[in-house]
Amino acid sequence: MNTVYIPRDSSAISLGANLVAAAIAKEAESRNIPLNIIRNGSRGMFWLEPLVEVATSVGRIAYGPVTTDQVASLFDAGFLDGGQHALSLGPTEELPWMKHQERLTFARVGITDPVSLQDYLAHDGYKGLRNAIDMAPQDIVQQVTDSGLRGRGGAAFPTGIKWKTVLEAPAEQKYVVCNADEGDSGTFSDRMIMEGDPFVLIEGMTIAGIAVGATQGYIYVRSEYPHSIAALNLAIKSAYEAGYLGRGILGSRHDFYLEVRRAAGAYVCGEETALLESLEGKRGLVRFKPPLPAISGLFGKPTVINNVISLASVPIILDKGSVYYRDYGMGRSRGTLPIQLAGNIKHGGLVEKAFGVTLRELLYDYGGGSASGRPIKAVQVGGPLGAYLPESQFDTPLDYEEFGKLWAVLGHGGIVAFDDTVDMAHMARYAFEFCAVESCGKCTPCRIGSTRGVEVMDKIIAGTDPAKHIALVRDLGDTMLNGSLCALGGMTPYPVLSALNHFPEDFGISKKEQAA
Ligand SMILES: Cc1cc2nc3c(=O)[nH]c(=O)nc-3n(C[C@H](O)[C@H](O)[C@H](O)COP(=O)(O)O)c2cc1C
Ligand code: SF4
Repeated sequence: MNTVYIPRDSSAISLGANLVAAAIAKEAESRNIPLNIIRNGSRGMFWLEPLVEVATSVGRIAYGPVTTDQVASLFDAGFLDGGQHALSLGPTEELPWMKHQERLTFARVGITDPVSLQDYLAHDGYKGLRNAIDMAPQDIVQQVTDSGLRGRGGAAFPTGIKWKTVLEAPAEQKYVVCNADEGDSGTFSDRMIMEGDPFVLIEGMTIAGIAVGATQGYIYVRSEYPHSIAALNLAIKSAYEAGYLGRGILGSRHDFYLEVRRAAGAYVCGEETALLESLEGKRGLVRFKPPLPAISGLFGKPTVINNVISLASVPIILDKGSVYYRDYGMGRSRGTLPIQLAGNIKHGGLVEKAFGVTLRELLYDYGGGSASGRPIKAVQVGGPLGAYLPESQFDTPLDYEEFGKLWAVLGHGGIVAFDDTVDMAHMARYAFEFCAVESCGKCTPCRIGSTRGVEVMDKIIAGTDPAKHIALVRDLGDTMLNGSLCALGGMTPYPVLSALNHFPEDFGISKKEQAA
């Protein structure tokens, strides 16, 4: 039987994938052609969605972006056998966007049926867990430490060290919590994993549970992600039924239970301690640290809290070994990073590459330059609290330390591009405003500082005594940077001051005045 792949990913659905799937099913029926339609994840080439693929003897052939009114002509052109059509793109894996990626965490995304356990198993799924089950917890933690994996949620803290702390904390009950609140601007890799390969996250969390001695896990999913929640729940159900979750996993002495929780819809609930408060049913206020969640986390118990991508990277490490993973990357940034290209970019989507790829390669080789065709003036990397980088810094390789040297962050790997029509003073104002809106209100530098920041930026934008007010912005930045309890207030100066430092003209002063 012919097999057709049509993504079930939200991005594809928002571009009409469900309608295209229905139209293809109907057309096949009217032509009496038996068809097996698989709803896969997205390959991450959003400008080509809905990307329809057909299985042929020479591999999968892609067509896209497909609209419902092109369906009949696709059948006429014999697309089920890879026939030529205006939408023909050739073999999917040969497309330049796909060909040069290093997909470790995203190895199955776009290939398998995300909610089919059989498909997951047929594509190397659960090999990592099978290895982990026979290992001592200390050895699992050691593998993760040796892989060099650092938290992909933003802080880049070594995952193995975090796990070791939880492993060594004595307690009756421990937890594994997955931070799937994904609120950063321009980010969607967590969503794509949850919708495109939910089992890899479930497997990663189960391994984490075995490694630290936790029997209960929660996935705290961004409330705006209904398709992720649905895919995760379907996958969790099959995992329970097949003995990959629950009591005595795969006949072993390990138990692990897993549930999805819908997040509160506030950016600050992505901060790990606010998340734990929210998960406990309280308002998402940031907790003072110490104690660390690894010692006293959910309900006061030792808790591993990791980002989706951190946890989803664990199965391949336990399957292929820490050295295999560590061999990708540069410096102290090991493995791969799923990079998300967004904003004013021609080819937006997801690219997974080893650390070391440069911003310029991502923006131009993958992204194809700006969508508007105008020069890219700045990119914001690492979410709404990340620094803006000017063109002169586009050759920076993606590496936590290299970015640190520029007073920038990699964050969750989201890159948002802006062309030369952007006004950076307005972007700085926006950063303050974002902080004011999203602040949990617990500490003064963030709660009050952000509101004062908006007011001062309004004066600068109005041209009122810019030199004096810029000095005030710097002062405010200093207070927020050093006096905030968490990174929401503490990092707001990154976008503000980087915009000011690199683009002083937009603030009404020349580069010369800036230097003086
Ligand atoms: C305001 C704020 C929002 C955050 N949002 C997220 C988020 O949405 N997802 C995430 O994984 N980490 C987020 N973080 C980072 C988490 O606090 C924490 O570092 C992370 O979940 C740890 O996981 P990792 O070690 O796997 O990166 C946020 C931090 C701050 C300060
Ligand atoms: S910096 Fe802002 S978000 Fe963080 S604890 Fe203080 S008030 Fe809350």
